[in-house]
Amino acid sequence: MSEKSIVQLFDLADRVAIVTGAGGGIGLGIARRLAEAGAAVVLNDVDGARARAAASRLRGRGYSALETVTGDVSSSEGSRTLVEAAVERFGRVDILVNNAGIYPTAPFLEHGTDLWDRVVDTNLRGAFLCAQAVARQFEKQGRGQAILNIASVVGIVGSGPSAAAYAASKGGLLALTKTLARAVGPYGARANAIAPAAIETEGQKGMLDQAAATRQPVGRFGTPDDVALAALYLVAPASDYVTGEILVVDGGYLLMQA
Ligand SMILES: NC(=O)c1ccc[n+]([C@@H]2O[C@H](COP(=O)([O-])OP(=O)(O)OC[C@H]3O[C@@H](n4cnc5c(N)ncnc54)[C@H](O)[C@@H]3O)[C@@H](O)[C@H]2O)c1
Repeated sequence: MSEKSIVQLFDLADRVAIVTGAGGGIGLGIARRLAEAGAAVVLNDVDGARARAAASRLRGRGYSALETVTGDVSSSEGSRTLVEAAVERFGRVDILVNNAGIYPTAPFLEHGTDLWDRVVDTNLRGAFLCAQAVARQFEKQGRGQAILNIASVVGIVGSGPSAAAYAASKGGLLALTKTLARAVGPYGARANAIAPAAIETEGQKGMLDQAAATRQPVGRFGTPDDVALAALYLVAPASDYVTGEILVVDGGYLLMQA
């Protein structure tokens, strides 16, 4: 049995975490819980004003070890400068949460290459580039802690035809997670994914069928904090022996597909 107390198992004091797409929704929820667990948190978003507003909300809750970095994770420069900024501010990087994502839809026959490239670049290439930049930093440090990818249940079971690019990007992210687990293992780090279903965020506004919520086993849609609590577990020492896994956080949504 671990000698650590339950508090120590979820303690992120002295840890530095990057959360991408942290300007709102699930990313901000995760940033908040990681800060509460003691981590210094770097909030990235392509929308700099959103990231700064998110950081100021966290400061209002009393968390001060925060940095915001405006940048597009899907560009090599954006991912590299994100990690550089984190190291410059806090001296190291221990945790990466690849949360930035977009979910535009279009009828399958009108799914253009523009839409495909935009979705796959943000959701999959962005996660790869950030993970690679962080793994390089783990190598320099000789050690890392965790990479967590926010995927989706549609990466497991597929989506309606109008979200083909999105489902493909999230399926790819799940496969990438398993490969990352092997890539970062030598640095004492782990890589896992969370697959949420319907989580009520600004990005999802108007897209969720409220009647469907009551049909789920838990009877409601998810909140960013439902995902954030699972995220805390997967980046904390509590899950030290869990890697390459997908944790479905869906209120039982997938059970209803059987
Ligand atoms: N909300 C849901 O129901 C749900 C379900 C399953 C999976 N997810 C996944 O969870 C993640 C967060 O979703 P959300 O609902 O909180 O979304 P959201 O739209 O509320 O927030 C996403 C954030 O990512 C930022 N972003 C977009 N592209 C970026 C880029 N290239 N670089 C940096 N930042 C970028 C946006 O500006 C935004 O602040 C996404 O990856 C999404 O696919 C969400």
